[in-house]
Amino acid sequence: MCGIVGYIGPRACAPLLIDGLRKLEYRGYDSAGLAVIDTSPTALGEPPKLGVVRSVGKLGKLDDAIRERPLPGNIGIGHTRWATHGRPTEGNAHPHLVGDVAVVHNGILENHVELRNELVALGRKFLSETDTEIAAHLIDIELANGAPTLLEATKLALSRVRGAYAIAAVSRREPDVIVVAKSFSPLVLGIGDGEVFAASDVPALIQHTRDVIFLEDGDICELRAGAVKIERLLVHGDGSPERITVTPVVRHPRRIDWSPAQAEKQGYKHFMLKEIFEQPTALENTLRGRVSLDDGDINSGEIGLSPEIARSIRRVVLLACGTSHHAAIAGRNWIESVAKVPATVELASEFRYRDAIIGEGDLVIAVSQSGETADTLAAVRDAKRQGAHILAVANVVGSAIPRVADASLYTHAGPEIGVASTKAFTTQLSALLMFAVWLGRRRETLGEDRAKQILQRAIELPTAMREVLDLADACQKIARRQIVATEANHCLFLGRGLSYPIALEGALKLKEISYVHAEGYAAGEMKHGPIALIDAAMPVVVVAPKDHHYEKIASNVQEVRAREGRVIAVVPKGDTTIAELAQDVIEIPDVDPELTPFITVIPLQLIAYHAADLKGTDVDQPRNLAKTVTVE
Ligand code: M6R
Repeated sequence: MCGIVGYIGPRACAPLLIDGLRKLEYRGYDSAGLAVIDTSPTALGEPPKLGVVRSVGKLGKLDDAIRERPLPGNIGIGHTRWATHGRPTEGNAHPHLVGDVAVVHNGILENHVELRNELVALGRKFLSETDTEIAAHLIDIELANGAPTLLEATKLALSRVRGAYAIAAVSRREPDVIVVAKSFSPLVLGIGDGEVFAASDVPALIQHTRDVIFLEDGDICELRAGAVKIERLLVHGDGSPERITVTPVVRHPRRIDWSPAQAEKQGYKHFMLKEIFEQPTALENTLRGRVSLDDGDINSGEIGLSPEIARSIRRVVLLACGTSHHAAIAGRNWIESVAKVPATVELASEFRYRDAIIGEGDLVIAVSQSGETADTLAAVRDAKRQGAHILAVANVVGSAIPRVADASLYTHAGPEIGVASTKAFTTQLSALLMFAVWLGRRRETLGEDRAKQILQRAIELPTAMREVLDLADACQKIARRQIVATEANHCLFLGRGLSYPIALEGALKLKEISYVHAEGYAAGEMKHGPIALIDAAMPVVVVAPKDHHYEKIASNVQEVRAREGRVIAVVPKGDTTIAELAQDVIEIPDVDPELTPFITVIPLQLIAYHAADLKGTDVDQPRNLAKTVTVE
């Protein structure tokens, strides 16, 4: 994963790079580093100094190191790391310096073993265990062999590597240039007034400019203060003597509508808490301008697919990972219940490695907050190659999955910084619900009256969500009493129907940030195994809104209580049946049974958040995780 940044312009760059890295820490945070070119006068004939500072641990450590060893200069690159090749040590931290060249890299060079052996045989000495250092050596070799510029040397070096990269390089021999290149890993340029930024993601540069260029795979760029040259690098695997072809490309900047304030904590203790509380507004933003209550429909222009496709598809296949997969399960249910179209949902990481039967007549919906998840992207590319139509449901505008897709339905949640996904989830739900309504209306399987009713109630959801957010203190007490005070090591989450993906999501939230082992289960499956786990030490969170599963799940609660399990129940307001059996109860407002996931997930997010906060874990940057998983 990792995050990279670059700056070239008139300002001192170290503070800008550190600040950019701070916005990218969600991508990895086990070590970090900067390389800055100091162009102040040197002894005659001496090239400028290229200072590198690296440190292990969170960014604060790098900040301290730079305070001790300042890095003056206004051209530089930086990196925050999530270890793939080599442990998180200072030696493995980026930038990697070879000769006069420093390199930062996000991605994995797949042929690194072969290249390293080749370079070692040439007498090259490696100071790290990383694949990135290979790229630095390759550039250095091309310069030594006569490549006239850093750009040319980087092109030749990249023609030797296979795999994924977003890379940035600087050389003290060319102190007015940064070279960046992209293949599969994300990279965006920010175009300012006489200055240029490069970063793995928009929040790292949004404070300085809203005009951005999302680079495409194969792009290689020479950045100068106020000037960007972009070329497309085509590498021939056909043994031709000219191993690369380069064509100039023009990419116009697009204006991003995220505000810098959205990427700040704004007084909340953690980004995750802020993002939980942003959900009502985020949902309003997702629905805004897309829903027509007059005719119970969704604006087709927003979906981006033609009515003919809607009518002709035989099946919908939803592909996603993690939290997005849980939203996709709810989406699958709606596509079947609302639009009456057969739908399946798959983990992208499984789908792409089996011989899935997919093709014409299938519509694939790829659900991804970042739009960059490697497994989802690869699965989408496969499905597209086989003739399926692709709709992306993504949050990050211009990210890789929407670019591959035939159409994109953006969730407009704003930047999500906390590694644990919250507002991305509820906005994905709303995008999928809108899609189901749109599809049902095109296929005439959903009547106008019911469509109007669903949409009207969807518009009312933010009010109900705010009511649930008022229960934050109650959720904190439950987290303290049931999980933290009892030092619970395990927790079970149960749900049926639309509450099943919510049980999965509640369990994922708890385990990823509080490190308590948690299982989400379809409540009807409990008797097929997990019931053996239940005893007085097992907290069981039961998601039981008012829908046609209510009575069945009430029986499951009886079964848990009969084995002395401790029940925390999410129930409809005024409920007595389950409430009387449970140790702790969270009452949620009455909403349409089709829309309960929007509401039931909030107390589960809050319980997970407070359990983690009370335990003192790093809520926004849990161990071993990264926000955007660009490795397979
Ligand atoms: O960016 P994506 O939605 O594709 O990311 C998918 C998962 O990596 C992500 O949802 C992950 O599971 C989160 N940490 C969950 O909170």
